[in-house]
Amino acid sequence: MAVNIHIVEEPRWGATAADLLAGCLKAKPDALVSFPTGHTPLPFYAELAGRAAADAAPFRRLRAVMLDDYLGATALPSNFYRWLRRELFDAIGLDDSRLLRIPSEPDGIEQACSDFERALAAQGGCDLQFLGLGGNGHIGFNDPGADAATRTRVVELAPETARANAEYWTNGYVPTRAVTQGIGTILAAKRICLLVRGPAKADMLRRALHGPIGAEVPASFLQQAPELTVIADLAAAARL
Ligand code: GLP
Repeated sequence: MAVNIHIVEEPRWGATAADLLAGCLKAKPDALVSFPTGHTPLPFYAELAGRAAADAAPFRRLRAVMLDDYLGATALPSNFYRWLRRELFDAIGLDDSRLLRIPSEPDGIEQACSDFERALAAQGGCDLQFLGLGGNGHIGFNDPGADAATRTRVVELAPETARANAEYWTNGYVPTRAVTQGIGTILAAKRICLLVRGPAKADMLRRALHGPIGAEVPASFLQQAPELTVIADLAAAARL
């Protein structure tokens, strides 16, 4: 595995992630890129919005794929599709025709998850997968217990993940089930970039990169990624 670790403070943190995406789009203007939600990537998305406002051309052919969403998302006022549209997609001019949305309707969800996997492969696979790191070591919604063979599927959220997600919303919504790309799906990306900020993630980042590989810390499977870039601020990198 090739690991490239950047330890940088804002505003360089967001710019470093944006530079990685820019390099990918320069080599492949219609690259298929997967974007996470959460608080972590927000400075990166703000940086992309600023760059797109100055010059939208590099983003014109970008294709995006979603990492995860809540089960039944379309009917919910709180969902990751709207989050990404608000924080990123509108700002970079990405319309739904260039987005592979993760399925979330409970009816026929298993078939829809297989169809999503097939569509992802048919589009050539993910070129660059950005990820956040959950406080319990999750990636996407692959909570502890998920192994390297998992593919896109419905999951029950661990209590701590449900709690952390409830904090995103001011309307009292507490998610319990979600749909996520599996760890096997994530690891199939040609390149992965793990985004980490803040002291609360320091111990988990050390375990993810240097601890034993296993389902107890799903992010530890990233040690098996063909090409991994980590962009961490000083606080998150404190225990490396
Ligand atoms: C959420 C999302 C993940 C995200 C993670 C970290 O539960 N499912 O995709 O990366 O938690 O969130 P945050 O960046 O807000 O700490």
